[in-house]
Amino acid sequence: MAPRPRHFLDLASHETAYLRHLLQLTGRVKAGEFAGRPLKGRTLAMIFRKSSTRTRVSTEVGMAQLGGHALMISDRESQMGRGETVADTAKVLSRYVDGILIRTFGHDEVVELAREATVPVINGLTDLLHPCQVMADLFTAAEEFGDDHLASLRVAWIGDGNNMANSWLNAAYRFGFPLRLACPPEYGPDPEILDRSRSAADVELLRSATEAAEGAHIVTTDVWASMGQEDEQRAREVAFAGYRVDETVMEQADPSAIFLHCLPAHRGEEVTAGVIDGPRSRVFDEAENRLHVIKAILLDLIG
Ligand code: CP
Ligand code: NVA
Repeated sequence: MAPRPRHFLDLASHETAYLRHLLQLTGRVKAGEFAGRPLKGRTLAMIFRKSSTRTRVSTEVGMAQLGGHALMISDRESQMGRGETVADTAKVLSRYVDGILIRTFGHDEVVELAREATVPVINGLTDLLHPCQVMADLFTAAEEFGDDHLASLRVAWIGDGNNMANSWLNAAYRFGFPLRLACPPEYGPDPEILDRSRSAADVELLRSATEAAEGAHIVTTDVWASMGQEDEQRAREVAFAGYRVDETVMEQADPSAIFLHCLPAHRGEEVTAGVIDGPRSRVFDEAENRLHVIKAILLDLIG
């Protein structure tokens, strides 16, 4: 029987050493190694059931730079959008391509795709998790503070307990850094992911943004309404009113603190323009690092 392909669906199911290996590989990619088209002849299918700028472009460009090819498959253009099963899609695509990246709603769909596929599957965001993004965030943090300090950085998550918050919890679970989350009641992170992170790291769920930011090296947030939650925008604006990263919140952080945001951002909602466009913001380095991270993941999984 053929060996099971390796996937990248979440941080929690990988050993910390493997995640550190991917971060080191990302550094080598960014430094200009692997310019010799190591993925020549390889093809990646990219299934997008939600919008994307960074994930789609960084993956497509990353494959091209590595000498391979990426093809975009949207709901509108594929039979998946007309109800073809995930299992059949996984089996068919596996006969054509060397890997599949998927962005969709339910995390179970990605897990099923990976179970049925015979090629590696990469999670390009689900309602539950966004692992490639948090790897880029960790890489950005390592660039700022040094690889050796990842385990001791204090991280503050302000706002929705969404896919990014859950991904930061998984990162804390694997790297062991202290993480303070400030989320409104009713909008906390996934309870199981929260509990698991607490088995390995000092994780606190608070109600105050300023308290969460005290002494933090990284202050990070995300939109109040994620993709698929557009109808909840008004209710969320009320619930999240006290959970904006503004200058007062940043003043609580360590003097060396940086601000991260996966983007897209809504200035004036989850973050003020002064913070996201200010001197502590690293959001465009973070966005650039999506390219280097996905190239490292592609090299590792399909190279
Ligand atoms: N951060 C991120 O995943 O951006 P996109 O939605 O543009 O891919
Ligand atoms: N939480 C956001 C992240 C977008 C990159 C969303 O899921 O829409």
